[in-house]
Amino acid sequence: TGNVTYDMGFANTASCQSAITYIDGEKGVLRYRGYPIEQLADKSTFLETAYLVIYGELPRPAELADFEERIKRKTIIDEGMRKFFETFPRGSHPMPVLAAGVQALGTFSTTSIGDDPQSIEKATERLIAKMPTLAAYGYKNSRGEPFLYPDNALSYVQNFERMSFGYPTEPYHFEPEITRALDVLLILHADHEQNCSSSTVRLVGSSGANIYASISAGINALSGPLHGGANQAVLEMLEAIKASGISVKEYVQQVKDRNAGIKLMGFGHRIYKNYDPRAAIIKQHADRVLALKSGRRDLLDIAQELEQAALADDYFTERKLYPNVDFYSGLIYEAMGFPKEMFTVLFAIGRLPGWIAQWREQRADPNSRIGRPRQVYTGVPERDYVPMDDR
Ligand code: CMC
Repeated sequence: TGNVTYDMGFANTASCQSAITYIDGEKGVLRYRGYPIEQLADKSTFLETAYLVIYGELPRPAELADFEERIKRKTIIDEGMRKFFETFPRGSHPMPVLAAGVQALGTFSTTSIGDDPQSIEKATERLIAKMPTLAAYGYKNSRGEPFLYPDNALSYVQNFERMSFGYPTEPYHFEPEITRALDVLLILHADHEQNCSSSTVRLVGSSGANIYASISAGINALSGPLHGGANQAVLEMLEAIKASGISVKEYVQQVKDRNAGIKLMGFGHRIYKNYDPRAAIIKQHADRVLALKSGRRDLLDIAQELEQAALADDYFTERKLYPNVDFYSGLIYEAMGFPKEMFTVLFAIGRLPGWIAQWREQRADPNSRIGRPRQVYTGVPERDYVPMDDR
């Protein structure tokens, strides 16, 4: 195999150069385009952060107003695409439906989806504008409820809330605290450098595949429980602890024993060897949202107890395992009224600007070449074909 380096899971291999996101995992630092995540979570909006992540700079007022306007004009989807959702059975998990929806969006583009700057710009805006519509329709369809057209008098996040929870026959009542919490959650998910789904977007894109195909692949990568699917898995874990009646200490012991094959979901990270800065921000919002909404206080208590028990335990401290972004986010989504199956979809709406920025950065890089890892072959050496009668 010559000079090939074996690096399982690419733990030590940089696959690209990138100017989008900086992480210092030892210190728990996360910055988009140089701006600390804490400041963005405090002061920015999701659309402004999306602009920053994709174009590299914070927009001036007129630039932001123009960007928001261009997004608003694209929120509606083709009527044919509305029918597309109806082909999925009632109760379909909205995550594969979202991946299929983004893939299909490419076929519903009225203009070229080529590599010229105008086509890339249009696809960028279509994706950001239509993602909440696709996500809400996947959800509505899973429940057999009517789809709502986007209402462009509303903000990006409000529009998504109304399309998810509203009914065509009733006015929708917004709670500003909830809308802001959702906005912040999306900001916190906007990019995270070369995670599994973003690397997937780049790998697929490196073949020359278009942005819809690449991002659809990223959504599928995100669906797994070791990645974005962890937010659903955390809530299921908390429910299982509650239902079984075992103590938090006993559960932690089971994780440490390792024979049950269970992990403490929402804990640990390839890069963070310190508290995930996103988890710290989400934890504050979890307290606030659950005080406001009748969420699962009982599960939040178990989560907090689990965190305390783990942070005081040698198994976790020796391995530097801390809560990650998924540990508390599901509890907030649940309190907002989303079912577990929607949690990873919300992660996908948040991560979209990152996927787009990574795809564009790669496409613009003159040194970019097709992603093609090597392997260490462990199969049998050469042997001769055995005729059927001799086997
Ligand atoms: N519970 C118990 N033990 C764990 C956990 C956990 N959640 N995470 C890691 N470990 C152990 C692991 O068994 C290994 O122990 P040892 O060295 O004795 O064999 C050690 O800690 C190092 O872990 P690793 O599996 O080599 O770490 P990794 O970098 O390959 O995996 C991870 C990172 C996030 C997949 C993993 O920590 C995990 O499975 N966590 C639970 C799932 C989860 O919460 N995922 C969301 C990640 S953050 C959101 C996102 O960006 O996707």
